[in-house]
Amino acid sequence: MSTPSQPQFILGIESSCDETSAAVIQGRTVLSNVIANQLLIHRKYGGVVPELASRAHQQKIVPVVEEALTLANITKNQLSGVAFTRGPGLMGALLVGVSFAKSFALALDIPLLEVNHMQGHVLAHFLKKPGEHKEVPSFPFLCLTVSGGHTQIVRVDDPLEMRVIGETQDDAAGEAFDKAAKLLGLPYPGGPLIDQHAAKGDPDSFKFPHPRIPGLDYSFSGLKTAFLYFLRDQEKHHPSFKQERLDDICASLQKSIVTILLEKLVLASRETGIRDIAIAGGVSANSGLRKALQFMGEREGWQVFIPPFEYCTDNAAMIACGGSFLFEAGRFTGLETAPLARMPF
Ligand code: KG4
Ligand code: ZN
Repeated sequence: MSTPSQPQFILGIESSCDETSAAVIQGRTVLSNVIANQLLIHRKYGGVVPELASRAHQQKIVPVVEEALTLANITKNQLSGVAFTRGPGLMGALLVGVSFAKSFALALDIPLLEVNHMQGHVLAHFLKKPGEHKEVPSFPFLCLTVSGGHTQIVRVDDPLEMRVIGETQDDAAGEAFDKAAKLLGLPYPGGPLIDQHAAKGDPDSFKFPHPRIPGLDYSFSGLKTAFLYFLRDQEKHHPSFKQERLDDICASLQKSIVTILLEKLVLASRETGIRDIAIAGGVSANSGLRKALQFMGEREGWQVFIPPFEYCTDNAAMIACGGSFLFEAGRFTGLETAPLARMPF
């Protein structure tokens, strides 16, 4: 066991969607962060197949945890707590991680720490690599949390005290990327591929409609429909339009999504007076969003926080990080805990 003056070792487990991940952190320092990706299993179906995800998690969870402990160079008996994703996510996928975490904590007689996946994305900003000294956001800060299932503006008053002040009323930003990519004939998940093509295209080639949603909420379903009709119309006159203009289409679409995302973030900052601004979640890996946020930060006088790529998409280090804050606050979870497909903050 580590002495009280040394930060505790926390194991994190993430299995909410299509990544089986385990990580060990000490304090906020990441000692290991192992991710088993299921991309090839789901790709031929054009999206995540829940039943296949659960089966793959079952196969991967033990080897992934073993590898995380080995890479961290500790034994399981040195762990002080087990943090896991309770939700939101796919029920069968969550069940694997939750059941594993419960049995592991019971066997080791150490506390269980339940973490909300979306809060985990936000808290990834507090992770650091061994020996790294970096600035972290000051409280309160705003975090634009953008993933395959969520698009939220979160007001963070404390690591364990956050509130959604704006969110999508329909599709998530990641979904908008993935569905548009599917229409373009790109494989799942299309977000990173749109990003790659966009880098080679002209973002002002085509214009897409802008949603008119009041307040700090978002909507992406209109853009999705407009994009579908746009492709259909263009292909009527020009059958190879998609193939010939792929880079320009991706660049223009990405510019639209990023503009929509940032517009509400600017509004949220002006309304709350908060100028520490962060992004999190899978879509925060998007290079157009990262660049535009930097630019907007200079214009608005923000202190901007962009996570390293490995902590943008789903990973267990962010869950362990949430667990470390809960551990320090003494907020432990009982063995009766169960996964939640929908889990509000
Ligand atoms: O947070 P995440 O890994 O999983 C969920 O919790 O959903 O986010 C996955 C989403 C997918 O929609 C994926 O297409 C998107 O993040 N994504 C990107 C990029 N990398 C991942 N979207 C746009 N550009 C990227 N570079
Ligand atoms: Zn996620």
